[in-house]
This record gives sequence, C-alpha cells and structure tokens, in this order.
Amino acid sequence: MSDQLIIFDTTLRDGEQSPGASMTKDEKLRIARQLERLKVDVIEAGFAASSNGDFDAVKAIADAIKDSTICSLARANDRDIGRAADALAGANRARIHTFIATSALHMEKKLRMTPEQVLEQAKQAVRYARSRVADVEFSPEDGYRSDPDFLCRVLEAVIAEGATTINVPDTVGYAVPELYGNFIKTLRERIPNSDKAIWSVHCHNDLGMAVANSLAGVKIGGARQVECTINGLGERAGNCSLEEIVMAVKTRRDYFGLSLNIDATQIVPASRMVSQTTGFVVQPNKAVVGANAFAHASGIHQDGVLKARDTYEIMRAEDVGWSANKIVLGKLSGRNAFKQRLQDLGISLDSESEINTAFAKFKELADRKSDIFDEDILALVSDESVSAEKEQFGLVSLAQHSETGERPQATVVFTVDGKEVRGQSDGNGPVDASLKAIESHVKSGAEMVLYSVNAISGSTESQGEVTVRLQHSGRVVNGVGSDPDIVVASAKAYLSALNKLQSKADRVAAQG
Ligand code: KIV
Ligand code: ZN
Repeated sequence: MSDQLIIFDTTLRDGEQSPGASMTKDEKLRIARQLERLKVDVIEAGFAASSNGDFDAVKAIADAIKDSTICSLARANDRDIGRAADALAGANRARIHTFIATSALHMEKKLRMTPEQVLEQAKQAVRYARSRVADVEFSPEDGYRSDPDFLCRVLEAVIAEGATTINVPDTVGYAVPELYGNFIKTLRERIPNSDKAIWSVHCHNDLGMAVANSLAGVKIGGARQVECTINGLGERAGNCSLEEIVMAVKTRRDYFGLSLNIDATQIVPASRMVSQTTGFVVQPNKAVVGANAFAHASGIHQDGVLKARDTYEIMRAEDVGWSANKIVLGKLSGRNAFKQRLQDLGISLDSESEINTAFAKFKELADRKSDIFDEDILALVSDESVSAEKEQFGLVSLAQHSETGERPQATVVFTVDGKEVRGQSDGNGPVDASLKAIESHVKSGAEMVLYSVNAISGSTESQGEVTVRLQHSGRVVNGVGSDPDIVVASAKAYLSALNKLQSKADRVAAQG
C-alpha cells in the first residue's frame, strides 16, 4: 500500500456550503491559487451544475491552476456530470466527484428511491463520468450510516464501472474514531475489487471528532485520501480541518509513517485568506492556526521554551507559516513595490484600473496607518470597491457623532446602482446608528444574526475587520469590511452583506 497521503481540499465546495460563506468567482480563484501554493493534491473547486456562478468559478479555476488536480462535485445524473466535465475541460488534471445517498433513511425519505434504483443510478453515473474523464471519485452520501451489505454491493459495482477513488462520508458527523476506522477496514476487506481504488475519508465535525475520525480511517482503515477544509470551514460544525490533519501526520510521522506533498509554511497564509474572505474568524485557541496556538503565557512555560524550545513546543510556529508580523510596505512605497507585493501574495488583479484603485486605497491607508502588513493588503483587495464587478451598494462617506450621555447620531452617504443617497439615524452606539442610517433608506428587512469585530494586526492602530451576517427569506450571507475606523468598517461590511443578499442566486444544495 502507498505511503503517500492525498490531501483533497473542499474549502471551495463543502466549506462554501457553510451559511454565509459563499464566495465570488474572484475570491475562489484567489483561494485556489493559495491552495496550489500549499501544494494541495486535489482542489474541489465547486459544484458546477448547482448554478451558473459555480460553473464559471470551477471553469476559471480549472483554466488557471496547473499543479493540483481540479475536481467538481456532481449528483449521480447525466446533466450534472456533463456540466462538471464541461467546466473542467481546461484542467491539466480533472476529476469528477459523483455522489448518491445510500443510507436507508436518505434513500426512502429524501430520494424516494429503492436500493436497487440507487445501485443502478450509481453505476450509470460512474460509467458516464468515466466516459468524460479518467479520474472519477464516487461517494455514497451518508455512507457511514448505510447498511454495510448494501454499501459493499454499491461500492463493488462502481469500482467495476471504473471509479478510481471511493470516498466514505460521515455526512452527519455521527462516527467515533475506532468504529469509523474499522468500518473502512471492513469495507476494504469485504469488497473483492477494493484494491482497484484509492480509499478516502470525509468527516463532518458535529461531535468534534472529524479530525480524529479521519485519522482513524487512515490508520485503522487504510484510507489514503483525506477530504478536509482550511480552518475546518463547513456546514454546521464544519469539516475535518486541513491544518490539523497535515500537522498531525507530519508531527507524528513516527506513528502514521506517511508522506505528504503539502508545503506547511503556506498553512497560516491560507487560513488568514479564508478567514478574511468569508468573515469566519478563527478562534484564538484553534490548533495550528489560532492566534494563541504558539503563545506561551505562563512563566514556567516561557522559561522552559527559552531554555529549550521542545520543552513545550511540538511544532515550530515558522514551519506552519507564522512569522512575526512583518512590516511590508509604508507611506513611501511606490506603485511597483505595491504591485510586487500583490504578486508575492499571489493576488492577481484583472486590469490596470483595478491595480490603480487598489494602489489609491493603499496610499489612503498608509496616510492613516504607518505600517502596512500583508493582512492589510489582503483586506484591501477583498474590499469590493477594488473589484471591477460593479456592486449595487457602495460607501461614499460617513459622519457620526457620539458623546458621553448623548444618543449617537450618524449620516451615511452611499451609492445605490451608481446614484448617491443619504441616510440618517440615531442608535444605541455609533455602529448601530450608522447601520440604521443605511437601513432607513434601503429597507431590506434583513435580520442581523451576527456582528463581530477583529483587529487585523493586533494593535489599536490596526484595521478593524468587521463581519456582518444577515438573514432574509431563508438566505444567510456574510459581509466583510475593513478600515482603521471600525464604524466605517461596519458600514462597509453591512453594504457588502446587502450586495450579497441581492446577488445570491438560489443554488442546489449538495446535501439535504
Ligand atoms: O458530507 C457529504 O456527504 C458530502 C458528499 C457530497 C461527499 O459532502
Ligand atoms: Zn460533506
């Protein structure tokens, strides 16, 4: 059996299914470039048949990324598989990932199909996918809760049809490590042609065991592919986290005995990019990528680490891409230095006019903030006003007044389809007044379900990054805005969420 563990990243597909995490094509492309730098083996770029936007994003990624295999999800029908194959046509290496549910509960209640119908549809789907690409992955959705006898029949049949990877999802995060590991082992032992496919694990984190389950699938079950996401992003409690899997396998090579292609120094930049793009803040004590992951507060630990690092450290911060906040640019930096830094960060803006807008914003920021960090540049290019895609709402200016004992007042000038409008309101605080000022004009009726502020680079001089989550008619969107003034950042985040609410087309969900 191979000692190579394949890392299959599904941040842009399963991760994006997280409520509010939807990303634009440009954002997905930027993340895909970072995943390529991370040397991820397979990038699941999206679900091409779910919407035209998803199709375009998968296509753009397939055309641009050359080192990783690019994969699209597809339900087990000819239309979905055809759309996936079309979107992947430009890829150096393309994979179609087709799935159908196999648990009694899903077949009866969701699909309303008999087991025999599901078996036939799975076979037909893999056969057709193989006629379009050489690399085909099959997933029995809710596989872990499926009847093992039936699952063996389905998996044996799809391998015979040419499936090259068999992925066994714990769709609802119900598994526990030993049982999941043994489940994969039993399937591989019972299915006569199991050695013709690579076995893969796909675990959700509802009971907080996605990483442990995936590792058991590898160690006990013999799986050689792990499906995971940056920061564990994903529906409900999320998916298995890429950074934890990678660092567990690397740090405990003595136990797992497996090699990886991953360049771990790209982990923290990837984590920051995903967090800044989606507005999903990383908890400080998150393993590997949390702000405290390498911080030693207690005197005893600090003393030990100063004497010998390995007293309290099992990994080195710099090996996963943590560096002391580097000042990269300042007020006197020119356009060329700025352009070069964008390139180093893997950011390609489409046109000279986008570079000019971003550079003007950079100069504006450098006038207010002496040191500019990579995080500031990432936040700046995530700002919608830099993108050539014209948005419905955009901030023009904001004025607010707050004083102890007085009720704060705000006036916000913003554009609606290019036309300037003005909203005014009071509120509990300056942020509340500003968002109410916008709402007094827009009247979206959206409910705010989350508001959070994060200091991008630590100090009070840093930019505040605000996430606003809005919910309306069953849709959930996140807006992100950044500015050294957190009231302005809040207004930007609110307008960005309103833009997403307007543009978010209905999509087909992969599950449920
Ligand atoms: O969790 C799941 O079952 C999935 C499948 C579509 C692979 O994401
Ligand atoms: Zn999933």
